Amino acid sequence: MEFKRITAAEAASLVKNGDTIGLSGFTPAGAPKSIPAEIAKIAESEHAAGNEFKINIFTGASTGQSCDGALANAQAIRFRTPYTTNSDFRKHVNNNELSYSDLNLSNMATQIRQGYLGQVDWAVIEACEVERVGDKARIYLTAAGGISPTVCRLAQKGILIELNAFHSKNCMGIHDVYEIEDHPYRKPIMIMKANDRIGKPYIEVEANRIMGVVECNIPDEARAFKEADAITTQIGQNVADFLLANLRSGKIPPSFLNLQSGVGSGANAVLGALGRCPDVPNFNIYTEVLQDAPVQLMREGRVLTASACSLTVTNECLQGIYNDMDFFKDKLVLRPSEISNCPEVIARIGVCSLNTAIEVDIYGHVNSTKICGTKMMNGIGGSADFTNNAYLSIFTCGSTTKGGAISSIVPFCSHIDHTSHFVDAVITEYGVADLRGKCSMEKAEELIKVAHPDYQPMLRDYLAYAAKHKGHTHHCLSAAFAMHDTFQRKGDMRLTDWAEYIK
Ligand code: COA
Repeated sequence: MEFKRITAAEAASLVKNGDTIGLSGFTPAGAPKSIPAEIAKIAESEHAAGNEFKINIFTGASTGQSCDGALANAQAIRFRTPYTTNSDFRKHVNNNELSYSDLNLSNMATQIRQGYLGQVDWAVIEACEVERVGDKARIYLTAAGGISPTVCRLAQKGILIELNAFHSKNCMGIHDVYEIEDHPYRKPIMIMKANDRIGKPYIEVEANRIMGVVECNIPDEARAFKEADAITTQIGQNVADFLLANLRSGKIPPSFLNLQSGVGSGANAVLGALGRCPDVPNFNIYTEVLQDAPVQLMREGRVLTASACSLTVTNECLQGIYNDMDFFKDKLVLRPSEISNCPEVIARIGVCSLNTAIEVDIYGHVNSTKICGTKMMNGIGGSADFTNNAYLSIFTCGSTTKGGAISSIVPFCSHIDHTSHFVDAVITEYGVADLRGKCSMEKAEELIKVAHPDYQPMLRDYLAYAAKHKGHTHHCLSAAFAMHDTFQRKGDMRLTDWAEYIK
């Protein structure tokens, strides 16, 4: 028997005020689009009629404009977790109009199972195919694994499928669907190398839990990347030189490491530059998002195999993968986020993590989420999943942003996501701060060396003032945020006048 075909509006009308929807996807890749957009319309008309209408959203990571953007703009979200990159959503979060919880992505499915986040009512899942086999249904996901297996299993009211013809049926088989057991019955995850498969290529559910299938043809909403520029190319070269030096000295094994690379234009450019460096050996990737640059490196044979949670690529790149599935099928695996980001696997197989910092302080603490300590940028994503378990953890960033008005190296991070205990190296266009085996004051020396030359004297002045306070790390608390405060008051950290702050 065929699954019931319904419109997106009919599917959306099943979701009631106060319900929690669990979505497929991880980043805008593979996220449902037509049903969330219709829920936003319902919210608008309910609000216009004076009725309350807000839902809760659980996702793998971010979604796109038709989901996070439209629902946030419609004031339709009560609570949402975890990662997000949508600029409209960001605006509403920073206006305190909705409740947003930032989580390590490896933990999302587990916390749903543990009941920490409350019940899931609906699973809303984008699929390239759904098949009935007896009383079971097989759901074939599109460009991401995310939390789909868990929300499909736990959704109390049922599963709504968006059958999106934009995603070729060629992607059937790219997924390795495996759900971890509950505590205390968890078993080791038998992944020994990036392209190992341990699960099934589909999610299996009771067929009668699928309450409707919405047919659509909508492109993914992944963002285009900023082109690599002189700075990101230089950072990539510095990363390559650092890894090669570690390889030669035996600190990295001759078989090299699996690389993880974070989200954003910076990470995409760094990985591209690394691939172009002829002395870096061909490598494998164990990561959460695969962006355009590594896909091109796979085609060139520089990247041998890749494990990821999503194909967060441009639509052109995505269609290229679908068209060449014969080439990619043995080399590329998409996994649920609790496996792609699994601390146990990452720690065991040997990963070099490469994530992007918003700012780093002189003692090696990293802020990757909040601008000036308060305004949410995107969220922590999987950066801690990888950083905390990496063989070698690296953060990269340009030494300045906003035309030089902001230094990425500061006396004290205005918010901390990654403590210095987990940060092995920080790399800017000015070089490498190798923090391994160094005490706090030695870390400060290393980090000031990779700051922009405009800011190096300022940071040294801070250290000189802070030295009067002694301690294992030197700080002058009245001046620790002087650079941030000056930026907020005068629009440029270079105008910092220490005399205003030193006590
Ligand atoms: N103060 C103020 N703004 C800052 C800043 C700082 N210290 N550092 C960066 N920004 C701004 C940039 O100016 C830019 O603003 P714009 O969009 O107005 O141009 C924006 O933040 C993004 O920075 P950009 O340099 O374009 O970097 P990116 O696209 O490489 O993204 C992060 C950088 C940190 C936002 C991104 O990597 C991220 O979300 N990281 C957290 C999650 C994560 O690491 N996940 C990966 C795990 S696999």
